[in-house]
Amino acid sequence: MHKLILTAASVAALALIGPASAQAPIVIKFSHVVAPNTPKGLASEKFKELAEKYTGGKVKVEVYPNSQLYKDKEELEALQLGAVQMLAPSNAKFGPIGVKEFEVFDLPYILPDIKTLRKVTDGPLGTKLLKLLDAKGMTGLAYWDNGFKMMSANKKLLTPADYKGLKFRIQSSKVLEAQFRTLGAIPQVMAFSEVYQALQTGVVDGQENTWSNIYTQKMHEVQKHITVTNHGYIGYIVVVNKKFWDGIPADIKPQLDKAMKEATAYGNGQSQKENDDALAEIKKTGKSEIITLTPEQDAAMRKALEPVYQDVAKRVGQTVIDEFLKETRGATN
Ligand code: LMR
Repeated sequence: MHKLILTAASVAALALIGPASAQAPIVIKFSHVVAPNTPKGLASEKFKELAEKYTGGKVKVEVYPNSQLYKDKEELEALQLGAVQMLAPSNAKFGPIGVKEFEVFDLPYILPDIKTLRKVTDGPLGTKLLKLLDAKGMTGLAYWDNGFKMMSANKKLLTPADYKGLKFRIQSSKVLEAQFRTLGAIPQVMAFSEVYQALQTGVVDGQENTWSNIYTQKMHEVQKHITVTNHGYIGYIVVVNKKFWDGIPADIKPQLDKAMKEATAYGNGQSQKENDDALAEIKKTGKSEIITLTPEQDAAMRKALEPVYQDVAKRVGQTVIDEFLKETRGATN
């Protein structure tokens, strides 16, 4: 009798534990390095909102902005180790883990506009590039936009000669390194979270970034001039730890895919506005002079940077560069 009561009690206890543990949500830690009020910050929050809504709380997304969990280089390593589940590093940051092909997006003046970019990311090349991530223990889910980069320094940057001898912070991309070397400048790889201080203390003289990143990191407060060059692009590859992603139950996966698709459309529809707003705010502060190049100056910059394509062809892969150019210039040439 005593034994029977115990058994009944354990059954009851098990019944209590059972459903509770089945309800424990799957947690996706999403780490990133930028501020919440940026294109990536907004898209990641949108993904959180939709993923939690569509899965009815079976998935919980924790977004950690501003490098609070990991800095640039550590981020991808943490994902590979499974310490975080989702990231959206910029295309420039995949070189150090051996996926150099994404550096094609860093080539100077390779994209005339975002509409053209879409032809690459939504086309066969975009799919092929994402597939390269499988071998690195991650799955590429989407392309998120930031936008076009500007050049800043405490010196006016008007012509290629103005860059000579200046130190510029770069992301960890060999294409960006070649870009600044071609201009006679000295590139220095540095984590995003360290750029403001490096500019403030003069460790570097200048940097390149989008308006939203310049504004949210307050770089305009420590750079006297920003030149509207639109010379390069920053976009993101949303990646997840492959093992984690493959282990998501089949009844939950489609809802996460839907949330990612919609968050991508939302974020990419919003990025231009975020950058425009950031530029307006920078102008309002009056702290940095915004320089517009003349058509001649713009042409001189384009010409000066042409050799970069040749310099990096071996590293990035001539085929990838050619496929990219076929998509982006094929229609206009
Ligand atoms: C940078 O390091 O400048 C950018 O990649 C930061 C970001 O994620 O936009």
